[in-house]
Formats: sequence, structure tokens, C-alpha cells
Amino acid sequence: MFKTVKDINLSGKRVLLRTDYNVPLVDGKIADDYRIRQSLPTIEYILKNGPASLIIIAHLGRPKGKPDKALSLSPVAKRLAQLLGRPVGFAPQCTGDAVKELVAKLSSDGILLLENLRFRAGEETNDPDFAKAIVAATSAEIFVQDGFGVVHRAHASTQAITKILPSVGGLLLEKEVETIVGVMNKPARPLVAVVGGAKISDKIDVLNKFIELADCVAVTGALANNFLAGQGVRIGKSLIDPDAGAEASEIWHRAQAEEQKRPFNFLVPVDVVVSKSLDGRSPTRIVDIASHSLADIEAYPKLPKPDSYSVRADELILDIGPISAAEIVGAIKIARTVVWAGTCGVTETKGIAGGADPFAHGSKTVAEAMIGQSNSHKNKPFSVVGGGDSVRYISSEGWLDDFNHVSTGGSASLDLMAGKKLPGIEALLDK
Ligand code: 3PG
Repeated sequence: MFKTVKDINLSGKRVLLRTDYNVPLVDGKIADDYRIRQSLPTIEYILKNGPASLIIIAHLGRPKGKPDKALSLSPVAKRLAQLLGRPVGFAPQCTGDAVKELVAKLSSDGILLLENLRFRAGEETNDPDFAKAIVAATSAEIFVQDGFGVVHRAHASTQAITKILPSVGGLLLEKEVETIVGVMNKPARPLVAVVGGAKISDKIDVLNKFIELADCVAVTGALANNFLAGQGVRIGKSLIDPDAGAEASEIWHRAQAEEQKRPFNFLVPVDVVVSKSLDGRSPTRIVDIASHSLADIEAYPKLPKPDSYSVRADELILDIGPISAAEIVGAIKIARTVVWAGTCGVTETKGIAGGADPFAHGSKTVAEAMIGQSNSHKNKPFSVVGGGDSVRYISSEGWLDDFNHVSTGGSASLDLMAGKKLPGIEALLDK
């Protein structure tokens, strides 16, 4: 484990803090400030311990080494000031004399946020000279890494800088690592993993890890289309990773082998919600791929139409169906730990006239089951959400506080779950 801010003396020191302020902006306004709010405990801890000054560095978006007004961190400085209830200065650069002057004016409880690191090419190339220039401009003496969402990158602000300054973790980084590694190393069982999202290629390592570790793995979202297609199920125009066929088949075989070896379930959707478009206006229907119950009941006493069981060529799978969701809820009902990474369907499409979002029923059902709000049960397993899009979904629904741990990391949380070593963590001082 790495040293944290609690293991060093901050008093009288100039502290440089890396946070992950890569927040969604809509029309220049912060659409979700979860990452900013999650950085507050470390900032408050540092300030309480009497540093000479506190300078924060972060990135926003992917400007590819060039300044881009639309990706300025200036709105973040304003939001941070509101949340902290104290002024936060903003430097329109991250190196150079302008920064030096602002740092010189900082009082011991003053905070200065520097402009987007990714406006400079040296950030992503992990350039030691860029790291040196940041240290020179800020006169920093201690580096604190608290940008969990970015520690899977080997960048100047995650790696090169740690070669110059004594570097420790912040409280958010500590919480993220302790929780995620704790769940992966010693989960309270049964452990259920619900893995979804758009692309299987992002989740291959984490899927393999959960197949080895969990008691039940449910694949959902567009990711599940790869498994359905691999079994010969027609998926119409649905999203699929064309290059991931072999990997999906390998995962499938591994899961089958695991089911033979021990009590383990690998759940692939048995029914799906389809539509010709994800615009939210086109009619939807449920295709009963393998459960053979919905379609039979609906058609009785006639035989169901053949396409009740199959996705038409012009349709897209946009959510898991109710029977698949019920199967997952059944597993969650007896789970003591549930990890959810990736939504079960397209949660961004809004329902017409404020109705239920048409392709979010699967995600909503899983979320409610995880937090003990399901109609059928009140079990409350230890709940962890990671991987970006599922976090955005529960944040948009206002459920962030209902889960035990909602990771601020996208790929970083998946890499950590998969057991990978993350460069920004490896670079910190060891306890
Ligand atoms: C994230 O949003 O996951 C982190 O801030 C990392 O961003 P990146 O994927 O652009 O490196």
C-alpha cells in the first residue's frame, strides 16, 4: 500500500495536489460535480494541516496538447469555491511566470487551480521537462495524487512528477483502492458481478477476473450482444465489437467450464428490448430470445409469431428484457456483495412526455435491487459501482448516496478490478 497524506508532515509545505476534474460540461456548465465533491475531503485535510500553500492540477477532456477554451478548468474553480465555501484562485496556465506570481500571493489556506494540463503535449507524453516546469512554477515540495480516475495513465502528472517530488496518495485514492481491492481480494459471498456497457473490449479483463472470482456473473448491455451473436442468435443492427468474436467465445467457454467446476452462474440475456431506433419515439418490443415464456403467454391460445423469438434485421437491442432483469435480481437477492460495471441498456434516451426511460428498465431494476429497494426483496448487499457509464446513470438519477461505493474512475476502476498495476499508484511512496 502507498503512503497517504496521513503519513507525512504537511505543515509549512507547498503541496501540489492532482485531482480528477474531468467532469461532463453541457453548454459550458458542469453537468455533474460528483468528482469535484469527492475531492473535498483531501483538500480539507490538507488545509487543516497548515500547508504553506495548496495548488491543484487536473485535466478536462482530450484536447490533445492544444489549448481549447471549451475545455478550460475555470468553471471547475468556481464550482470548487462554492463547494468549499472559500475562494479558489485560477491560473490560466499550468507553468511559467504567471503561475509563479499567483503562487507567491497565496496564503496558507489559499487554493489555486491551474489550467488544464492536457493543453500541453508534455502531459500525455509523460515528459519529465513538463513535470519539472510545473514544480518550478509552483515551488511544490510534496505531491499528492488523488485523481483516481487517471492513475491508469502514465502521464506527467501521474508518473514523471513523482520522480521529482515525494509523492503520496490522497484520501479519495486511498478509499477507492481499499474498497475495490478489498472487494476483489476478500469479497463477502455470494459475490455477484453485473457487467454491461457498450464495448466488450473494455471489459474483457474484468470479465475474466469475475469468472474466476464471483459466484454469479451477468452480462448485459451491448456487450452481451457479442455473446448472443456467438450463440447464433440474430441481433439485427445491434451494436457489436466486430473484432471481439474470438475473445467473447473464449470467455463463454471459460464461463461454461467454471459452471461445471463449482456453483457458478453465467447469465446471458434471455430476453431483450428492441426498437428500430434509439430516438425514444419509435415503438419498442420485447424479444423473447430464450426464455420462451413471455411470447408464449402473450400469443396463447395461438402460437407466437416467429419474430417474437428473434430480433428483426432492422432492429437494435437496446436493453435487457424483464425476465433477464428478474434473473439478475434473483441473484442479487441472496448476494452479500454486488459489483456493477456498465449499464444494462441505453440509459441516455429519455422517455416521451416524462415517461419511464424506454431502455433504462434493466439498469433501474439492477440499481434498485442493489440498494435494497426492489419490490421483491430488501436485501442490501455491499454495493460497488464502477466503470463510468453506470456511475453516470446512477448519478443522473440522484442515487449516488444509496450505494456503498460509487467509483470516480472509469477505466481506472475496471483495471483495478481486473488486478492490473496502475502506473500512477505504483509511482507513489510505499508504506
Ligand atoms: C476519466 O474520465 O475516466 C479520466 O478522467 C481519464 O480520462 P481519459 O480517459 O481521457 O484519460
